[in-house]
Amino acid sequence: MRHAWNFSFFHDFDTSWCNFLSTRLFHGSTPTAMLSSRVGQQLGCPTKSLMGWLASKFFKWHNEILEENAAKLCGIRPDDAVLEVGYGPGLGLLVAAPLLSGPKGKLIGVDCSEYMYKMASEKVKDLIMSGKVTLHLGRVEAMPFDDSSMDKVYHCNCYYFWSDLKAGASELHRVMKPGGLMVTTLQVKSVAFAASKGFLKGDSWRPEMYMEALRAAGFTNVKMESRVDKGITFQAIFGTSSK
Ligand SMILES: C[S@@+](CC[C@H](N)C(=O)[O-])C[C@H]1O[C@@H](n2cnc3c(N)ncnc32)[C@H](O)[C@@H]1O
Repeated sequence: MRHAWNFSFFHDFDTSWCNFLSTRLFHGSTPTAMLSSRVGQQLGCPTKSLMGWLASKFFKWHNEILEENAAKLCGIRPDDAVLEVGYGPGLGLLVAAPLLSGPKGKLIGVDCSEYMYKMASEKVKDLIMSGKVTLHLGRVEAMPFDDSSMDKVYHCNCYYFWSDLKAGASELHRVMKPGGLMVTTLQVKSVAFAASKGFLKGDSWRPEMYMEALRAAGFTNVKMESRVDKGITFQAIFGTSSK
Protein backbone atom coordinates (compact mmCIF):
# COMPACT_ATOMS: atom_id res chain seq x y z
CA MET A 1 0.00 0.00 0.00
CA ARG A 2 1.30 3.45 -0.92
CA HIS A 3 1.13 6.41 1.41
CA ALA A 4 1.31 10.15 1.31
CA TRP A 5 3.54 11.82 3.89
CA ASN A 6 0.92 11.88 6.57
CA PHE A 7 1.74 13.31 9.95
CA SER A 8 -1.16 11.30 11.35
CA PHE A 9 1.47 8.57 11.36
CA PHE A 10 2.83 10.52 14.31
CA HIS A 11 -0.66 10.77 15.70
CA ASP A 12 -1.19 7.01 15.49
CA PHE A 13 2.26 6.09 16.72
CA ASP A 14 3.12 9.23 18.64
CA THR A 15 3.37 7.64 22.05
CA SER A 16 5.33 4.55 21.11
CA TRP A 17 7.70 6.38 18.73
CA CYS A 18 8.37 9.21 21.17
CA ASN A 19 8.81 6.75 24.00
CA PHE A 20 11.27 4.75 21.93
CA LEU A 21 13.27 7.84 21.03
CA SER A 22 13.20 9.28 24.50
CA THR A 23 14.24 5.97 26.07
CA ARG A 24 17.00 5.18 23.59
CA LEU A 25 18.33 8.62 22.88
CA PHE A 26 17.51 10.64 25.94
CA HIS A 27 17.44 7.92 28.60
CA GLY A 28 13.75 8.55 29.26
CA SER A 29 14.33 11.90 30.91
CA THR A 30 14.04 14.30 28.00
CA PRO A 31 11.40 17.00 28.13
CA THR A 32 8.81 16.74 25.35
CA ALA A 33 9.79 20.15 23.95
CA MET A 34 13.38 19.01 23.40
CA LEU A 35 12.23 15.78 21.76
CA SER A 36 9.80 17.66 19.49
CA SER A 37 12.54 20.04 18.51
CA ARG A 38 14.93 17.18 17.72
CA VAL A 39 12.27 15.40 15.64
CA GLY A 40 11.49 18.65 13.82
CA GLN A 41 15.19 19.22 13.09
CA GLN A 42 15.56 15.73 11.64
CA LEU A 43 12.44 16.06 9.50
CA GLY A 44 13.62 19.47 8.30
CA CYS A 45 17.25 18.62 7.58
CA PRO A 46 18.14 15.00 8.37
CA THR A 47 21.67 14.22 9.54
CA LYS A 48 23.48 10.89 9.50
CA SER A 49 22.17 9.57 12.80
CA LEU A 50 19.52 7.19 14.09
CA MET A 51 16.88 9.91 13.98
CA GLY A 52 17.97 11.03 10.52
CA TRP A 53 17.76 7.46 9.29
CA LEU A 54 14.27 7.09 10.80
CA ALA A 55 13.24 10.35 9.12
CA SER A 56 14.49 9.11 5.74
CA LYS A 57 12.52 5.84 6.16
CA PHE A 58 9.50 7.88 7.12
CA PHE A 59 9.79 9.99 3.92
CA LYS A 60 10.12 6.87 1.79
CA TRP A 61 7.15 5.11 3.36
CA HIS A 62 4.81 8.08 3.47
CA ASN A 63 5.67 10.64 0.81
CA GLU A 64 5.41 8.78 -2.44
CA ILE A 65 2.03 10.03 -3.63
CA LEU A 66 2.72 13.66 -2.74
CA GLU A 67 6.13 13.54 -4.42
CA GLU A 68 4.65 11.90 -7.53
CA ASN A 69 1.96 14.54 -7.76
CA ALA A 70 4.29 17.47 -7.20
CA ALA A 71 6.43 16.28 -10.10
CA LYS A 72 3.46 15.58 -12.37
CA LEU A 73 1.36 18.66 -11.59
CA CYS A 74 4.02 21.11 -12.74
CA GLY A 75 3.44 19.98 -16.33
CA ILE A 76 6.94 18.90 -17.29
CA ARG A 77 7.72 18.92 -21.03
CA PRO A 78 10.50 16.78 -22.51
CA ASP A 79 13.00 19.62 -22.99
CA ASP A 80 12.33 21.57 -19.79
CA ALA A 81 14.85 22.53 -17.14
CA VAL A 82 13.19 21.46 -13.89
CA LEU A 83 14.20 22.11 -10.30
CA GLU A 84 13.18 20.10 -7.23
CA VAL A 85 13.79 21.80 -3.90
CA GLY A 86 14.22 19.49 -0.90
CA TYR A 87 14.45 16.24 -2.86
CA GLY A 88 15.09 14.24 0.35
CA PRO A 89 15.78 10.56 -0.43
CA GLY A 90 14.97 11.18 -4.12
CA LEU A 91 11.44 9.79 -4.68
CA GLY A 92 10.33 12.75 -6.82
CA LEU A 93 13.53 12.74 -8.87
CA LEU A 94 12.67 9.25 -10.11
CA VAL A 95 9.23 10.46 -11.20
CA ALA A 96 10.35 13.65 -12.94
CA ALA A 97 13.46 12.39 -14.74
CA PRO A 98 11.65 10.07 -17.23
CA LEU A 99 9.35 12.94 -18.21
CA LEU A 100 12.43 14.89 -19.37
CA SER A 101 13.00 12.69 -22.38
CA GLY A 102 14.16 15.41 -24.79
CA PRO A 103 17.84 16.06 -25.46
CA LYS A 104 17.71 19.38 -23.59
CA GLY A 105 15.58 18.08 -20.73
CA LYS A 106 17.36 18.27 -17.39
CA LEU A 107 16.50 17.88 -13.72
CA ILE A 108 18.29 19.80 -10.99
CA GLY A 109 17.85 19.28 -7.28
CA VAL A 110 18.85 21.29 -4.24
CA ASP A 111 18.68 20.05 -0.65
CA CYS A 112 20.39 21.35 2.48
CA SER A 113 21.01 17.93 4.05
CA GLU A 114 24.33 16.27 3.28
CA TYR A 115 22.82 12.97 4.36
CA MET A 116 19.93 13.33 1.86
CA TYR A 117 22.34 14.53 -0.82
CA LYS A 118 24.35 11.31 -0.47
CA MET A 119 21.26 9.10 -0.25
CA ALA A 120 19.56 10.66 -3.31
CA SER A 121 22.84 10.70 -5.26
CA GLU A 122 23.10 6.95 -4.74
CA LYS A 123 19.46 6.42 -5.71
CA VAL A 124 19.76 8.31 -9.02
CA LYS A 125 23.44 7.61 -9.75
CA ASP A 126 22.71 6.34 -13.29
CA LEU A 127 20.75 9.50 -14.10
CA ILE A 128 23.60 11.61 -12.73
CA MET A 129 26.12 9.63 -14.80
CA SER A 130 24.04 10.17 -17.94
CA GLY A 131 23.90 13.92 -17.28
CA LYS A 132 20.10 14.02 -16.96
CA VAL A 133 20.14 14.85 -13.23
CA THR A 134 22.38 17.19 -11.24
CA LEU A 135 22.08 17.35 -7.47
CA HIS A 136 23.31 20.19 -5.30
CA LEU A 137 23.86 20.47 -1.58
CA GLY A 138 22.52 23.91 -0.73
CA ARG A 139 19.65 26.01 0.53
CA VAL A 140 16.67 27.36 -1.33
CA GLU A 141 17.34 30.77 0.21
CA ALA A 142 20.57 31.15 -1.83
CA MET A 143 20.72 28.87 -4.86
CA PRO A 144 23.69 28.59 -7.22
CA PHE A 145 21.58 28.93 -10.39
CA ASP A 146 21.34 31.61 -13.05
CA ASP A 147 18.43 34.02 -13.21
CA SER A 148 15.51 32.79 -15.36
CA SER A 149 17.06 29.37 -15.92
CA MET A 150 14.27 26.97 -14.80
CA ASP A 151 11.03 26.20 -16.64
CA LYS A 152 9.36 24.42 -13.73
CA VAL A 153 9.92 24.05 -10.01
CA TYR A 154 8.34 21.59 -7.61
CA HIS A 155 8.72 20.69 -3.98
CA CYS A 156 6.92 18.49 -1.51
CA ASN A 157 6.64 18.84 2.27
CA CYS A 158 9.36 21.38 2.29
CA TYR A 159 8.63 25.11 2.65
CA TYR A 160 7.79 24.87 6.38
CA PHE A 161 11.42 23.97 7.05
CA TRP A 162 12.93 26.97 5.25
CA SER A 163 14.65 29.46 7.50
CA ASP A 164 13.16 32.38 5.58
CA LEU A 165 9.99 31.96 3.49
CA LYS A 166 10.36 35.31 1.75
CA ALA A 167 13.97 34.68 0.78
CA GLY A 168 13.07 31.19 -0.47
CA ALA A 169 10.11 32.42 -2.54
CA SER A 170 12.18 35.24 -3.95
CA GLU A 171 14.96 32.84 -4.99
CA LEU A 172 12.42 30.57 -6.68
CA HIS A 173 11.13 33.56 -8.61
CA ARG A 174 14.63 34.70 -9.55
CA VAL A 175 15.68 31.34 -11.02
CA MET A 176 12.42 30.71 -12.89
CA LYS A 177 11.76 31.70 -16.47
CA PRO A 178 8.84 34.06 -17.08
CA GLY A 179 5.59 32.07 -17.15
CA GLY A 180 7.13 29.04 -15.39
CA LEU A 181 4.95 27.01 -13.05
CA MET A 182 5.84 26.25 -9.43
CA VAL A 183 3.98 23.50 -7.56
CA THR A 184 4.22 22.30 -4.00
CA THR A 185 2.24 19.47 -2.40
CA LEU A 186 1.35 18.95 1.24
CA GLN A 187 -1.40 17.68 3.52
CA VAL A 188 -2.55 20.70 5.46
CA LYS A 189 -4.23 18.70 8.23
CA SER A 190 -1.12 16.63 8.82
CA VAL A 191 1.17 19.65 8.78
CA ALA A 192 -1.11 21.44 11.26
CA PHE A 193 -0.88 18.36 13.49
CA ALA A 194 2.91 18.40 13.26
CA ALA A 195 2.92 22.08 14.20
CA SER A 196 0.66 21.38 17.18
CA LYS A 197 3.21 18.81 18.40
CA GLY A 198 6.05 21.30 18.16
CA PHE A 199 7.77 19.62 15.19
CA LEU A 200 7.40 22.84 13.18
CA LYS A 201 8.24 26.27 14.52
CA GLY A 202 6.15 29.42 14.24
CA ASP A 203 3.44 30.08 11.69
CA SER A 204 5.32 29.64 8.45
CA TRP A 205 3.80 26.18 7.94
CA ARG A 206 0.47 27.85 7.18
CA PRO A 207 -0.26 27.72 3.43
CA GLU A 208 -1.48 31.35 3.53
CA MET A 209 1.97 32.44 4.71
CA TYR A 210 3.69 30.65 1.84
CA MET A 211 1.17 31.92 -0.71
CA GLU A 212 1.67 35.46 0.60
CA ALA A 213 5.44 35.11 0.23
CA LEU A 214 4.97 33.83 -3.35
CA ARG A 215 2.79 36.81 -4.28
CA ALA A 216 5.25 39.24 -2.69
CA ALA A 217 8.07 37.65 -4.70
CA GLY A 218 6.24 38.18 -8.01
CA PHE A 219 4.28 34.96 -8.55
CA THR A 220 0.78 35.30 -9.98
CA ASN A 221 -2.21 32.93 -10.14
CA VAL A 222 -1.23 31.74 -6.67
CA LYS A 223 -3.83 29.25 -5.46
CA MET A 224 -4.26 26.12 -3.39
CA GLU A 225 -6.39 23.18 -4.54
CA SER A 226 -7.34 19.92 -2.86
CA ARG A 227 -6.70 16.80 -4.89
CA VAL A 228 -7.28 13.08 -4.37
CA ASP A 229 -5.00 10.38 -5.73
CA LYS A 230 -5.33 6.69 -4.91
CA GLY A 231 -7.68 7.54 -2.08
CA ILE A 232 -5.31 10.09 -0.50
CA THR A 233 -6.42 13.70 -0.17
CA PHE A 234 -3.72 16.34 -0.33
CA GLN A 235 -3.28 19.98 -1.25
CA ALA A 236 -1.29 21.49 -4.10
CA ILE A 237 -0.17 25.13 -4.15
CA PHE A 238 0.46 26.62 -7.59
CA GLY A 239 2.17 29.84 -8.65
CA THR A 240 3.19 31.27 -12.03
CA SER A 241 6.45 33.15 -12.21
CA SER A 242 5.45 36.47 -13.78
CA LYS A 243 8.26 38.81 -14.81
C1 LIG B 1 10.32 16.71 5.12
S1 LIG B 1 11.64 16.44 4.03
C2 LIG B 1 10.78 16.04 2.51
C3 LIG B 1 11.66 15.31 1.55
C4 LIG B 1 11.00 14.97 0.22
N1 LIG B 1 10.55 16.15 -0.47
C5 LIG B 1 9.87 14.03 0.44
O1 LIG B 1 8.71 14.49 0.44
O2 LIG B 1 10.12 12.84 0.63
C6 LIG B 1 12.22 18.09 3.72
C7 LIG B 1 13.45 18.13 2.85
O3 LIG B 1 13.75 19.47 2.53
C8 LIG B 1 15.11 19.73 2.81
N2 LIG B 1 15.19 21.16 3.19
C9 LIG B 1 14.71 21.72 4.32
N3 LIG B 1 14.97 23.04 4.34
C10 LIG B 1 15.62 23.32 3.17
C11 LIG B 1 16.16 24.51 2.62
N4 LIG B 1 16.08 25.68 3.26
N5 LIG B 1 16.75 24.44 1.40
C12 LIG B 1 16.85 23.25 0.76
N6 LIG B 1 16.38 22.09 1.25
C13 LIG B 1 15.75 22.12 2.44
C14 LIG B 1 15.49 18.76 3.90
O4 LIG B 1 16.86 18.48 3.97
C15 LIG B 1 14.67 17.55 3.54
O5 LIG B 1 15.36 16.68 2.67
